[in-house]
Amino acid sequence: MNTPAQALAPAFAELMAAHRSIRDYKPDPLPAGLVDHVLEDALHGTSSSGNLNLISVVKTQDPARKEVLCELHGGQPMVRQAPLVLTFCADSFRTREWLARRGARLGFADLVSWHTAAFDAMILSQTAALAFESHGLGICYMGTTLFSMRGIADFLELPENVLPVTSLVVGWPDEAPTQRDRLPPAAWIHDERYARPSGDDIHMVAMPTPPHRLDHRIMRCRCFTSASPCSLLSRWPSSWTSLRKPG
Ligand SMILES: Cc1cc2nc3c(=O)[nH]c(=O)nc-3n(C[C@H](O)[C@H](O)[C@H](O)COP(=O)(O)O)c2cc1C
Repeated sequence: MNTPAQALAPAFAELMAAHRSIRDYKPDPLPAGLVDHVLEDALHGTSSSGNLNLISVVKTQDPARKEVLCELHGGQPMVRQAPLVLTFCADSFRTREWLARRGARLGFADLVSWHTAAFDAMILSQTAALAFESHGLGICYMGTTLFSMRGIADFLELPENVLPVTSLVVGWPDEAPTQRDRLPPAAWIHDERYARPSGDDIHMVAMPTPPHRLDHRIMRCRCFTSASPCSLLSRWPSSWTSLRKPG
């Protein structure tokens, strides 16, 4: 007899197989209340480092504000088109305020805390992505959040020690792309020890989607031609960058 968990397993496999990043959206609004409901469920269903909940999510639905975000995201049109943009933030501000109000020693403003909060925000975003997809909605991650970290932080009026780490656009899909390739299991699943790939292996699998098959909308995006990820460190608060080794 199938346990409830076994019964859910095919549903999960089906959900995984249905995933596509969606870059064209219908203008139709999202069902009232769904977004908060999904986010609340997602937080409960996602592990949280020390259960500190070092995360915040900012919803942007106002068309004029989405227009500004669209610019900050390098002009990626789905930010304008999708009815909802969610900005997932690493948030140590709340915890530090809590500590300050109790006269406790302040922490959570160093590089480890940044990573802890950033990873928590990232895994929350993926749970939320799956939850939206399970409702038939489409999503696309916006890696441009990192390129415009400071600008987005200012626009969303994030306090100190809160920074955006990723964003999702969410809406009803207006396209049905075919499933994109991934690396074959042998290329990235290792038994006990890392199995170094041979030159031939690398040649065969290093790029699951050859550049000519990448979505042209990704390659056209300004962020791929104007900004460098290496410039990111300089945009982080000095308390985080100060942990870098000198010289
Ligand atoms: C962290 C992250 C950032 C991404 N940023 C962008 C982005 O800025 N623009 C975009 O069009 N797609 C973005 N994507 C989507 C990827 O391009 C997409 O997942 C990949 O091409 C595989 O396609 P699939 O999701 O349809 O399987 C991002 C994905 C991740 C995980």
